[in-house]
Amino acid sequence: MTVHIGAKDGDIAETVLMPGDPYRARWAAETFLDDAQLVNEVRGMLGFTGTWKGNRVTIQGSGMGMPSLSIYANELISTYGAQTLIRIGSCGGMQPHVGIRDVIIAMTASTITSPSSGIFKEFNFAPSADYALLEAAVKAAKGKGSTTHVGGIYSSDVFYAERPDLDEQMVRHGILGVEMEAAELYTLAARHNRRALAVLTVSDHLQTGEALPSEDRERSFGDMVEIALEAAFASP
Ligand code: HPA
Repeated sequence: MTVHIGAKDGDIAETVLMPGDPYRARWAAETFLDDAQLVNEVRGMLGFTGTWKGNRVTIQGSGMGMPSLSIYANELISTYGAQTLIRIGSCGGMQPHVGIRDVIIAMTASTITSPSSGIFKEFNFAPSADYALLEAAVKAAKGKGSTTHVGGIYSSDVFYAERPDLDEQMVRHGILGVEMEAAELYTLAARHNRRALAVLTVSDHLQTGEALPSEDRERSFGDMVEIALEAAFASP
């Protein structure tokens, strides 16, 4: 047990998928895992452990934003020994060629500030995905119906951003989408020598203003979960 996760020792698998939304953790566990058991419900941040094609997997909600994700990822890594952590979540599209429901596999996650900024001070660390996971995810995505993009994303501290000038620079520099968690996940994985990746579904678009209705989201998110699972257990 940790401060925020009530699971017993051994209840958490070495591979953990991390959606922001605890209800999406439940949906993904019920939809994709066999024998899924609830292992955490502290603060309603649901976590489930089951198997996928015989492989043990935990799906644990991270909450929204890097401070929340940092709590769960730190405890999963340090107390439960999680080795592979894959964020599955939504993001806002930022490029004209990125459409609603497309999948983004995040090679890098830029940020202005994160919970790790305090230790980096003037150093601009470049949070990046584990290469083997990234390569396996790209391969897995080829067999799916969703249009997939691979590249840099931006992890923001705010959903309701007030910096159109910053958005403009991101678009100009090819950032594919914006979300709120991946940069810290990648940084923690680097610090603790673990594997991390973020596979995201575009739920809204900053330029067109389009957005997926919430009841549509679950169906659109299936490819993302399958890509994450296939990448996690791909043989090297
Ligand atoms: N901004 C930040 N995070 C997000 C967005 C967004 O537009 N969409 C989904 N997650």
